[in-house]
Amino acid sequence: MKKEFIVTPWEVTGKINYNKLIKEFGISPLANLPKEFQRNLLFRRGIVYGHRDFENILNAIKNKQKFVMMTGLMPSGKFHFGHALLVKQILFYQSLGAKLYIAVADLEAYNTRNPNLEELRKVAIEEYLINYIALGLKPKNYDFYFQSARSKDAKKSNAYYNLASKVSRYVTFNEVKAIYGSITPGKLNSALLQVSDMLHPQLKDFEGKINVLVPVGSDQDPHIKLARDIIQRIKDYRFSQLSSSYHMFMPGLKGDKMSSSDSTSYIALTNSSEEAANKIRKYAFSGGQATIQEHRKKGGNPDVDVSYQWLRMFFEENDKKLQNIYHNYKSGKLLTSELKQILIDKLTIFLKNHHRQREKAKKLVSKFI
Ligand code: TRP
Repeated sequence: MKKEFIVTPWEVTGKINYNKLIKEFGISPLANLPKEFQRNLLFRRGIVYGHRDFENILNAIKNKQKFVMMTGLMPSGKFHFGHALLVKQILFYQSLGAKLYIAVADLEAYNTRNPNLEELRKVAIEEYLINYIALGLKPKNYDFYFQSARSKDAKKSNAYYNLASKVSRYVTFNEVKAIYGSITPGKLNSALLQVSDMLHPQLKDFEGKINVLVPVGSDQDPHIKLARDIIQRIKDYRFSQLSSSYHMFMPGLKGDKMSSSDSTSYIALTNSSEEAANKIRKYAFSGGQATIQEHRKKGGNPDVDVSYQWLRMFFEENDKKLQNIYHNYKSGKLLTSELKQILIDKLTIFLKNHHRQREKAKKLVSKFI
């Protein structure tokens, strides 16, 4: 039987049913969050939908204990709105006082995609870091590093690479096969290095034992599983169990996957507002009917309409307004062209402001590396 969707670190295809994914992965639905989380649309609207051991982080917040938010970025291609969903979470945790660890997965990219570290470094800074700063990242309580060069401090660097090497002792090949299926040496190496990314904040040369939250896209759960298994077995260290959270993928313009390798599937944060508007008009998959008459009669389907989904996931903060758009589209009162225009207006304001922030961010980069 053909599976209706596949979600692994190396492949994401099909129409993802998140309820099924929760069961398949064995993660828990994320619900009943405290009010500071409700203020953030990603949590309020269930776009961050699943977790493992998130209670530990909620307790740390409640008891005013320090915690770490650790995540990573793959420096490939353009930084688009799909990537921005994670950045919104990073900024949210920074506002809650978390210490941030952000890994540039340049060695992972080297081993699985593009063997040019210099180019990867350039993409990481110009595409990712500058956009992070423009979106509001602050250089305090924060550690941004490249997997290929963990730290100028040899003690820290040694601790990180030692851990990356030692973790392999605590996992068998059968277990690797059970988690990943068939896997190449490059991918396995990247997975174990990512385990070190996620565990090393708890080493004594970094924070010491502490709660660590790893917010990620749904495809990263196998790595989290591996890391959590290793934590339970590793003898030399006493680590707190890792917490994780999972967000939905933002749909690509054409309704399927948003992919950096297909520029008609995304809008980059460096696209001009004119380019963005054209892409929406030309490519954004519509849940509307074929003719205006038919649309007025039968109404549209906001659940599959990409413009509506983008408003829900990113651009329309106001729940009331979003609800109105939903109902008006469903009833046929709102036409596809009008719905697209609502998104275009939001995008235009966002991008114009973002491009100004990017110019400022460029001057600040050195404070962030
Ligand atoms: N593998 C991640 C990706 O493809 C990047 C990554 C590297 C990461 N190290 C990490 C993510 C640690 C979370 C935590 O996007």
